[in-house]
Amino acid sequence: QKSLLGLKELGRGEIESILNRAAHWESHPEKVNPVLTGKFVANMFFENSTRTRFSFEVAEKRLGAEVLNFSAAVSSVQKGESIYDTVRTLESMGIDAGVIRLKPNGILAELAEKVNVPLINAGDGNNEHPTQALLDLYTMRKQFGDLKGLKVAIIGDILHSRVARSNLWALTKFGAQVVFCAPPNMQAPELGAPIVSIDEALKADVIMMLRVQLERHESGMIKSAEEYRQQFGLTVERAARIAPHAIIMHPAPVNRNVEIDDELVEHPQSRIFPQMQNGVPVRMAVIERSLQ
Ligand code: CP
Repeated sequence: QKSLLGLKELGRGEIESILNRAAHWESHPEKVNPVLTGKFVANMFFENSTRTRFSFEVAEKRLGAEVLNFSAAVSSVQKGESIYDTVRTLESMGIDAGVIRLKPNGILAELAEKVNVPLINAGDGNNEHPTQALLDLYTMRKQFGDLKGLKVAIIGDILHSRVARSNLWALTKFGAQVVFCAPPNMQAPELGAPIVSIDEALKADVIMMLRVQLERHESGMIKSAEEYRQQFGLTVERAARIAPHAIIMHPAPVNRNVEIDDELVEHPQSRIFPQMQNGVPVRMAVIERSLQ
């Protein structure tokens, strides 16, 4: 039984084996493969989610697991119960694994040490979102075959982005070149990736746009949505300048006409909805690994 807390500490071989197993599940003709019959998996979301929560649920059901969905908004968290007590409560009821999304940074590792079931990180603060980055790598691998030498530009609200961090840490293990492009107040220079202009970023093979995370901002971080779009958004005009082989990615949810123009979300070079589709086999591989 293995937790998946992040990609920073995960070896390249482990990541590769998850991606290969995801390819196996993607090519599997049957929708349900009951390899986890009798296993109970709890999806514990202490922060909102659509894609991650539902694709984990689809993945668990496709593997034949019993699924429990916990949502903090309608739970005893509202009466002041802690995250630890909540997870211990579900553990004491006999879950075999937990998928967990948390708002605060820095508590997941300690939590995982205290409980006896594997935990899968579904996003913790601005630290890591390992299954998002795995599905992003999977999407890039499907497109380009090899990640080595691939130039990936991650553009936008790097400061608040767990997706940027997990992608940086995973992609560099495979020899991809990651560059960041962000407004001065949304950069994270301590991560060590080169910070480039938007014009330079548009030369990459992968143009990964990030959501402006207004819910994590202090007031005044952006003057206006339109000004942000003009300076850092993937506009139709900018998209016309990307290489014909390049792809556009975004973890979603998307702020249409802020970080990416409406017309580009389903552009032929966009892989935004395929990313979501790829999330299911990737999460099947991750859950299966946790319960082996
Ligand atoms: N990409 C992602 O994590 O989306 P959700 O917040 O909807 O899960």
